[in-house]
Amino acid sequence: MQTQSKMQLLWVEKYRPRKIEDVTGNDEAKALFIEWLKNKRHTKKAVLLYGPPGVGKTTLVMAAAREFGFGVVEMNASDTRSEKAINAVAKPATSYTSLDSFAEGAKSLGNVLFLDEVDGIAGNEDRGGVNAIIKIVEQSLVPVIMAANDPDIDKLRPLKKVCLLVRFQQVRIPLIIALLQKICLLEHVKAEFEALERIAQNSRGDVRSAINDLQSLSEENNSLTLQDTMMLSSRNKDVSMDETLRRYFSAQSIVETSSLLLFSSVDYDDLLLSVADNLPKRYTDATELAKAFDYVSRADLFRGRIGTENWHLLKYFNNALAEASAVNPESYKPFTLITPPIRIMTLFWTKPKRSLLQAICAKIGAKCHVSVERAREAYVPYIRLMLIKKPRNPLAAYFEFTPEEVDYLTKMGRY
Ligand SMILES: Nc1ncnc2c1ncn2[C@@H]1O[C@H](COP(=O)(O)OP(=O)(O)OP(=O)(O)O)[C@@H](O)[C@H]1O
Ligand SMILES: [Mg+2]
Repeated sequence: MQTQSKMQLLWVEKYRPRKIEDVTGNDEAKALFIEWLKNKRHTKKAVLLYGPPGVGKTTLVMAAAREFGFGVVEMNASDTRSEKAINAVAKPATSYTSLDSFAEGAKSLGNVLFLDEVDGIAGNEDRGGVNAIIKIVEQSLVPVIMAANDPDIDKLRPLKKVCLLVRFQQVRIPLIIALLQKICLLEHVKAEFEALERIAQNSRGDVRSAINDLQSLSEENNSLTLQDTMMLSSRNKDVSMDETLRRYFSAQSIVETSSLLLFSSVDYDDLLLSVADNLPKRYTDATELAKAFDYVSRADLFRGRIGTENWHLLKYFNNALAEASAVNPESYKPFTLITPPIRIMTLFWTKPKRSLLQAICAKIGAKCHVSVERAREAYVPYIRLMLIKKPRNPLAAYFEFTPEEVDYLTKMGRY
């Protein structure tokens, strides 16, 4: 980003460990993973690192690859690819045994396939769901590494059979404090010990959020007192939509917006729509506006992927939304906000219908192994006709449609 100064660099990226030994905590999990990488990957082809967010799963994989000289073919939930495209990326990496020499001591140990945040990929019917991933693991000729937040959710259960499970836990508070102290030293932040202790405790073992808190609380004047951290406990307090939008649009940096989004508890869908509605007022320059909309559309994409349960993907949603607010901080001029957002009203009225059709398409998708999109375009019109022609059609039972859904399909006017 051309407007991003050095100050705005996120510390979580700046201080992401590059060496295995610098990934703090979770010693057992680390040892198990390294052992698999060194010696066991021939016997068990895949490994699933799972555990709470921000504890170093992704970081460890990248650091290990660097140290051992593995080539990493990476895919994560931020990939916009469909099952077909997923296969297009994964296939070449899984088809050439020669890519993986499997030779100990060789400079390069070959390639690994890294599927990060598989719960995000697996949870998404549009992308072929968990079966697409299992297929990749089964067909892969090179080791597969996966990372996820929660292996117990139903969708991931089938994955357990095909891989070694490595469990990560919250990073212990003293280790987080030590890491924060190190960062303070490097960033010349004078911090009271009690303040760091409070940030660490508040993070619940999530190193990412601890570092983010440290940055947003101390960046302004390079000092941090216990008093400064008091607001952490008020994280859930209500910041109104108006207030959130006002601060969102006048933000001077991505970091500022990131912490705003962290503290505000407005509804994410409302916020997304409100931001989109007000964006043309905020950016009068067409290029800036286009850029901002690009980020908003990314945020929208992640909102869809988060759904009702993939909340660990919220960071991507927040990041994209924060980027949109800081395309050019200098061009900010106060303006009258559009509130409540115009489109919210329309969407509000049509929501029950939209979710009904969505549910129907998801059921078709699951039975016919197609995406929700494809179900809507290519299947719904025919299924609808069949249901109209034969009122008690066994198809309804096959797709497990509710009477309300059958009613909706047969009476809908769109097709
Ligand atoms: N164990 C750790 N040691 C040092 N830094 C860490 C550790 N864990 C996380 N971090 C910091 O937090 C950031 C995010 O970590 P990472 O992406 O590895 O988390 P993750 O476990 O993969 O989380 P998620 O489940 O949300 O993907 C890193 O860039 C790094 O700055
Ligand atoms: Mg990760």
